Amino acid sequence: MTTAKDAHPAMDRMYRWTRHVYDASRKYYLLGRDALIGEIDAQPGEVVCEAGCGTARNLILMAKRYPQARFVGFDASAEMLKTANASVEKAGVTIPLRVALAQDFSPELFGLTEKFDRVFFSYALSIMDDWQAAVDHALTVLKPGGTLHVVDFGDQKGLPRWFKWVLGKWLHQFHVRFRPEVKAHFDSLAASGRGTLAYREVARGYAYLLALKTR
Ligand SMILES: C[S@@+](CC[C@H](N)C(=O)[O-])C[C@H]1O[C@@H](n2cnc3c(N)ncnc32)[C@H](O)[C@@H]1O
Repeated sequence: MTTAKDAHPAMDRMYRWTRHVYDASRKYYLLGRDALIGEIDAQPGEVVCEAGCGTARNLILMAKRYPQARFVGFDASAEMLKTANASVEKAGVTIPLRVALAQDFSPELFGLTEKFDRVFFSYALSIMDDWQAAVDHALTVLKPGGTLHVVDFGDQKGLPRWFKWVLGKWLHQFHVRFRPEVKAHFDSLAASGRGTLAYREVARGYAYLLALKTR
């Protein structure tokens, strides 16, 4: 389990200053996050965990929209969580946040004795080199019948080539890239009987939303 002491140094370096402008600057290009908030449809009593929650922007909107569900989140960057904790307090909602890695988080981190009903990754897998370990680990901390949700950059195939090129260059500086292998991995999880997969593109392939409902 990761503690504040051994937080991800690269993520802390990246977000130490940018966390102050993160929400305002990402509003226009992390598309599909609001669609996920609508589609997650968290039921009363369910526990929803965001992996790589950043500033907790998504969790705060969800906590307001689904007040009878419970929301928790974690991030590799203790720096990001400084902003997240301040935003949670300002919003007047209760969202426990922890420093942890997506490859080894657990319900116990939040004092929970049961597994999660839902886990989601919002623009987080595209920044992780070891995204597959994160996905596979998330499946181990979900209840049977729980759902793993992802929103992230898509293949941009319906958009002009120059746009894809410019976006790729921009994202590169944040160590972010479109990972077609994520969808392929979910396809194989669904094919091997792990659950039922729903997938759709947003804004002509700019982003995608995916949900694997486990058995
Ligand atoms: C692009 S931001 C997205 C933040 C938020 N999910 C959102 O939609 O606004 C990616 C986040 O993932 C976190 N992150 C990167 N690698 C991680 C890992 N291995 N485990 C947990 N969080 C990680 C980063 O620190 C960062 O806050």
